[in-house]
Amino acid sequence: MDNPYVFITRKIPNEILTELKELAEVSMWEYDDKPVSRERLLEEAQKATALLTMLSDPVDKALMDHAPKLKVIANLAVGYDNIDIEAATNAEIVICNTPDVLTDTTADLAFGLLMATARKITEAERFIRDGKWVNWSPFLLAGYDIHHKTIGIVGMGRIGETVARRATGFEMNIQYYNRSRKKTAEESLGASYVSFDDLLRTSDFVVNLTPLTAETKGLFNYEAFQKMKKDAIFINVGRGGSVVEKDLVAALENKEIVAAGLDVFTEEPISASDPLLSHPNTVCLPHIGSSSIETRMEMCRLAVRNIVKVVKGEEPETPVNKRAFR
Ligand code: NAP
Ligand code: GLV
Ligand code: GLV
Repeated sequence: MDNPYVFITRKIPNEILTELKELAEVSMWEYDDKPVSRERLLEEAQKATALLTMLSDPVDKALMDHAPKLKVIANLAVGYDNIDIEAATNAEIVICNTPDVLTDTTADLAFGLLMATARKITEAERFIRDGKWVNWSPFLLAGYDIHHKTIGIVGMGRIGETVARRATGFEMNIQYYNRSRKKTAEESLGASYVSFDDLLRTSDFVVNLTPLTAETKGLFNYEAFQKMKKDAIFINVGRGGSVVEKDLVAALENKEIVAAGLDVFTEEPISASDPLLSHPNTVCLPHIGSSSIETRMEMCRLAVRNIVKVVKGEEPETPVNKRAFR
């Protein structure tokens, strides 16, 4: 590979680029809070050996068709639904993600969001800041208990299992649904494997941690919410596309379920006037699952290491499409 060129689609700390800069010319999009324009991304992809992308960058066949030198795309996320994997494999471009390093941090946030939603923590905080706290009263901002309840995890993968481990501390009854059984989780966490329908019908908390795929797109529709307990709380830390959001709004309005905690949305950023945000029983976060300083730094380091490895002609650490690597 002569003169490798690497383009990073967001401004990330320079200190982690030392080794990469010894091997390649590196340039970055100028902003840390604004996505790269499509035009600039296409222009950069045409000359790049490697791209370090964000989950908010659509990486499609059109881009790869005009990227003759591209060998690797390192996505700064464990999810890679923003990337056309089939097109990448056909073009012999290896795609890398950032699994494991964000598992605990994302599980912490998922459990925190569950607690905030059940115990109305953000609503209570707005209440006091708005000067509405004039009296203590027995049922003021009364929420729902968490301890000893049933948590149903849809997508018992790395993060799902780590959420389940947190749930054991609250002595919750743990059940899960995956396409395949995970006997190790059953043994170590006392989790029960149930069908998707049974999970919906019997869980107090339904937590989605599946990746967004053709199968999970729109999985949580009105029918699914209708099957849930009337006092169920739905938590989504997977991807927004797994939820039919207008059905969720209708299910909340019709009291099919009681509340929802959402870290992810179909369109991100969600509009401030979206009915999901104006509903009193939702807690909405701006996709901050893995957002601790330590973890975001680790994710950046892993993404950069994957690029370094490919530039050196070695196998990357966390490829998604292994067969693409030659
Ligand atoms: P993972 O280890 O691959 O876990 C995914 C789990 O989902 C697996 O157990 C898989 O089991 C299950 N699954 C896949 N397709 C399914 C289907 N059709 N029906 C039911 N279960 C299905 O991934 P992870 O590291 O835990 O991450 C999971 C997802 O969380 C990511 O893909 C990403 O979208 C999301 N995420 C969000 C944030 C955030 O900031 N909010 C942060 C990190 C990750 P089977 O294959 O057996 O079905
Ligand atoms: C974040 O959403 C990720 O997939 O890492
Ligand atoms: C509440 O603060 C209590 O003492 O029960």
